[in-house]
Amino acid sequence: MDRMRIIGGVPLEGTIPIGGAKNAALPLMAASLLSDETLRLENVPDLADVAAMANLLAQHGVDIERGEWPGPGDGCLELSAAHITSVTAPYDLVRKMRASVLVLGPLVARCGRARVSLPGGCAIGTRPIDLHINGLRKFGVEIELSGGYVEARAPKGLHGAEIVFPFVSVGATEQLLMAATLAEGESVLINAAREPEIGDLAECLVKMGARIDGVGSDRLHVTGVGRLHGAVHRIIPDRIETGTFIMAAAATGGDVRLTHTRPDFVTAVIRRLDGAGIELTTAEDSIRVRRRGDGLDGVDVTTEPYPGYPTDLQAQFMALMTTARGVSLITETVFENRFMHVPELARMGANITVQGASALVRGVPRLIGAPVMATDLRASVSLVIAGLVAEGETVINRVYHLDRGYERLEDKLAACGARIERLRDGA
Ligand code: EPZ
Repeated sequence: MDRMRIIGGVPLEGTIPIGGAKNAALPLMAASLLSDETLRLENVPDLADVAAMANLLAQHGVDIERGEWPGPGDGCLELSAAHITSVTAPYDLVRKMRASVLVLGPLVARCGRARVSLPGGCAIGTRPIDLHINGLRKFGVEIELSGGYVEARAPKGLHGAEIVFPFVSVGATEQLLMAATLAEGESVLINAAREPEIGDLAECLVKMGARIDGVGSDRLHVTGVGRLHGAVHRIIPDRIETGTFIMAAAATGGDVRLTHTRPDFVTAVIRRLDGAGIELTTAEDSIRVRRRGDGLDGVDVTTEPYPGYPTDLQAQFMALMTTARGVSLITETVFENRFMHVPELARMGANITVQGASALVRGVPRLIGAPVMATDLRASVSLVIAGLVAEGETVINRVYHLDRGYERLEDKLAACGARIERLRDGA
């Protein structure tokens, strides 16, 4: 397994181009199952999770043409689901990537049948899919859980319904939004998630002929149509990659310009970092990150659904706060088990106390490099940020987590002066 070696202590300086959003690309790829015509996606990031979704779709019979990936923003995929040859999403593929369950709604809406493995728990919590299943049942889908699979049937098609989510779920909103586009009649999704990735999915579905009102709000109104057609859609910039590099630049006391991004997607992040003493200068599609004074101040953060502070930037913020002046209280409200990075950061000298859903970070003057590893994508990247700040050498194990969600991470950081290299398996 590859590892990443970092020699810390270099302030990042330069420009980093932001890629397309992983968490928009995955549901958009699943949406290709809704039409027998070609969906062309542009600005597709070159990531292991995108490859995993492509594998899954290919085994459903989707024909996938992949454009070259010569530079940021150039990745393109043409997905044609003219002939769906299998409605089964097997355990082996779903287990590796939870977003695979997003094929359930499109398959049953288009084919009247789907058999999708239950994803099981994962490193950040139990993560059930009850909201997905309950919502599909309201659309008239008969669902049985058997042998670890969701067996879904709707021989007469789906009918529209009012769905009230008891709490906000990104995946369930995406699943039911896709299914509703082909359901007969009207559907309303109430207390829907408002993440920009959902707006992106809705915009693409509208280009494919779906009728959706309320895009960007927590109440989506869908009028079902008989069929969807092909479309060309450019994926939005990745706000989590943006926030991660903001944190890396701020932690190292550097001066970095992020390009090809959307500052309005990271408003909650900018607000917190402003309080911590970071100057963020925004233009239409770029953000410049510098420190205002000679250090960082501790600030508190509570994760929330969008437009609140994102859970996917909690670990990175904690890495940033480890060397801030004073204390920072970080509260995780979205997932029940998302502090796996804490013991690893502690091994590098951080002073963090966890109590329930909150972590109290007492700033220390410096971190010291160490061998570390993490069990999920965002926890791993928080260790990269800590490694960039720490004195001496940090080696991060299980780099495959990083490859799931960060495109050319080491190249982008090295271009800004970071001393970072990938140690290939066996090196
Ligand atoms: C999406 O996951 C993202 N994944 C996650 O990104 C992100 O952390 C999360 O949204 C929250 O923003 C993708 O977009 C592919 P949820 P999702 O349904 O859809 C509970 C990353 O690092 N829940 O909004 O799975 C659930 O357990 C990742 O890129 C139920 O109880 O998240 C969680 O506590 C990781 N029942 C909460 O809701 C359900 O049926 C929010 O989960 C569904 C969810």
